[in-house]
Amino acid sequence: MTPSAQEASALFERLVGSAPERVWSAPGRANLIGEHTDYNEGYVLPFAIEHRTYAAVGRRRDGIIRVASTFDPNPVEVAIVELPALFGGDPGEAVQSGDVPEWAAYPLGVAWAALAHVDATHAQIPGVDIALASDVPIGAGLSSSAAIEGATVGALDDLWHLGLTPLDMSQIGRTAENLAVGAPTGIMDQVASIMGETDSATFLDCRTLETQPVDLGFAREGLRVLVIDTKVSHSHSTGGYRDRREACERGAREMGVKALRDLTTGDLDRAKRILDDVTFRRVAHVVTENQRVLDTVDTLRAEGPRAIGGLLVASHVSMRDDFEISVPELDTAVTAALEAGAIGARMTGGGFGGAAIALVEADRVAETKRAVAQAFADAGFAEPHQFTVAPSHGVLRDA
Ligand code: GLA
Repeated sequence: MTPSAQEASALFERLVGSAPERVWSAPGRANLIGEHTDYNEGYVLPFAIEHRTYAAVGRRRDGIIRVASTFDPNPVEVAIVELPALFGGDPGEAVQSGDVPEWAAYPLGVAWAALAHVDATHAQIPGVDIALASDVPIGAGLSSSAAIEGATVGALDDLWHLGLTPLDMSQIGRTAENLAVGAPTGIMDQVASIMGETDSATFLDCRTLETQPVDLGFAREGLRVLVIDTKVSHSHSTGGYRDRREACERGAREMGVKALRDLTTGDLDRAKRILDDVTFRRVAHVVTENQRVLDTVDTLRAEGPRAIGGLLVASHVSMRDDFEISVPELDTAVTAALEAGAIGARMTGGGFGGAAIALVEADRVAETKRAVAQAFADAGFAEPHQFTVAPSHGVLRDA
């Protein structure tokens, strides 16, 4: 058992007085390429990382769901029959309830969304205790939230015999995030966390929801993914993320398509003529990014991972200049990593802070880290947190 799995079990024992019935876990994710394409019904290529959230769980005799976490001393308890009232009843109209702390809205929101998904009669569902511990860095853009959702939904599926498919679990996680937490995100993070496979990325078509594992070959080729967490914090429930989403919806409307997925690079001339400059650049990012995801999958298959560097860099430039979601720290991380010889680098996740990833030869990791740390010091930025991640497996039962 990893230290976080042990922490989750120990927390459960303190809370309940006996060992958990099960321990489930799900990973955070990094996105190799395909940013802000998911809610535009486009393509993404994320991979699960080895950092995971663990849920130690056990059934109760009453109808209470109690959640505890190592990042808050106070457990939160709700009667299962109260979940619909807490989160607004029917998925589709719910808004975040101020009644529970935000961290607790993730597991409780998952419980609510899971029961709504299978149309369960809440009164017959046994209570549960859930103790969470995680080693996914929080606020780094590595989807610590999808990891909580994944671990919780895996555990509840098991304890409540819900018979969920991996896609059901992903949709439940997203519903919790959108409606219980109130972050208007797409489905990429949940799919990545639930369906990840070792040394592979998950290619997801966010319209059809078809997935395909894509072999990355990083381990085989002696490559590492270096994560450079800028420690600049971001939140997707507010501000910039929502604003970008609205710009994309406006662009699609004005271009007369259901979603930006329906445009190709051949439509960009017309887009430039009819859209205002800002909306055009938002649209241009999404349209070119979708193409870059498809090109990355083809390039990985035809030429292997050393050939994708240019696509990663073009993705970063598009996010920096057209989608305008980068920050100086992320740009510094990308530039410094490339100057130190990285094959490719880009910010990953929703932006406005969080982390960049760099694809680096294994024997150049230490040197790249030093160069990035030096560039941050020279720019007067706080020291970034740097670590490597390996593409890993998705949700599973640990014990
Ligand atoms: C966040 C969201 C995802 C996705 C990315 C941007 O991580 O949770 O759904 O939109 O931003 O690609």
